[in-house]
Amino acid sequence: MKLFLDTANVEQIKRYTDMNLCDGVTTNPTLVARENAPAEEIYMRIAEIVDGPISVETISLDADGIIEEGRRFADMHKNFVIKIPTMLEGLRAVSKLSSEGIKTNCTLCFSASQAVLVAKAGATYVSPFVGRLDDGGHEGMELIADIMQIYRNYDYQTEVIVASVRHALHVLDSARIGAHIVTIPPGVVDKLIKHPLTDIGIAQFLEDYDKIPK
Ligand code: E4P
Repeated sequence: MKLFLDTANVEQIKRYTDMNLCDGVTTNPTLVARENAPAEEIYMRIAEIVDGPISVETISLDADGIIEEGRRFADMHKNFVIKIPTMLEGLRAVSKLSSEGIKTNCTLCFSASQAVLVAKAGATYVSPFVGRLDDGGHEGMELIADIMQIYRNYDYQTEVIVASVRHALHVLDSARIGAHIVTIPPGVVDKLIKHPLTDIGIAQFLEDYDKIPK
């Protein structure tokens, strides 16, 4: 399973690239708005430190506008993936951009039926939002299992990016299900490595080390 970072914060991204823990990055306008710099400047700074797919989101609501934005981003950097809302106009844009060899990520996916159409339109990635489904009383991870099953049934090439991740269990369940990718906020990555028994074990070993004659 590939790990992407779900952030537009360049300092955070650097921390994880130094540990080889960043196969790609996903951004969205909310994440970019926290960084206090023009969006395209942030995207280019991320591209300098990450050698993998970087999702950059379009804001147009009509296919022509999305296609224009998508072509412009694709010209800016080879690793930019055009993040497009899952809607009819979005599918038109996905189909066109895919035919031009431009990679796409259909975002804000909340149902398996949406995921089927996204794959048929030729999207490179689909991003189902598990946390937001959980927030509304639905089982977000059930959607991931459904989509993975459907994609396997028909050998669809679209890769599933588990998105809107809130906690470590989302990551673990993604791995159990066999999702291609999970995109994780930096705070959640830190929680994946922490375990109280590890901390207690380290403290004990250090205490005992001091007892060894030097
Ligand atoms: C993914 O592509 C999105 O940027 C992100 O995961 C949304 O997460 P949220 O529901 O926590 O805003």
